Amino acid sequence: MRVHHIGYAVRDIEAAAEGFAALGYRRAGNVTDDPHRNVRILFVSLADGTLVELVAPLNEHAPVCGTLNAQRGVSHPYHICYETDDFDGDVALLRSRGFLLISDIAPAKAIGMRRVCFLMSNSAGLVELLEA
Ligand code: NI
Repeated sequence: MRVHHIGYAVRDIEAAAEGFAALGYRRAGNVTDDPHRNVRILFVSLADGTLVELVAPLNEHAPVCGTLNAQRGVSHPYHICYETDDFDGDVALLRSRGFLLISDIAPAKAIGMRRVCFLMSNSAGLVELLEA
């Protein structure tokens, strides 16, 4: 597995894009609405390839709302996404190591319809797996 991106919970995609632009990030793709997950997504990247996913809620049902409320609306990193060459194998491996599968396994509109899922560990936090 390798780190693919860091997910940031943000209230407003455009405001967050401006904030990350001040850090030297450029837009990597377009703003994408994912109604399946009730979120709006924009990827931004540094020249070295570091990728950050800005995730804003489309409505109050978005899972990211909990993170935003806990952070009083301040943009906040809340998941690390790992890309894996053995998606099903790594999902099973992490579950066997105590990670809880907390989402369905579904194609992600903002990442070329590749399969993703989220797993939670009290000690390692929220992890997203992305099929290579
Ligand atoms: Ni992500």
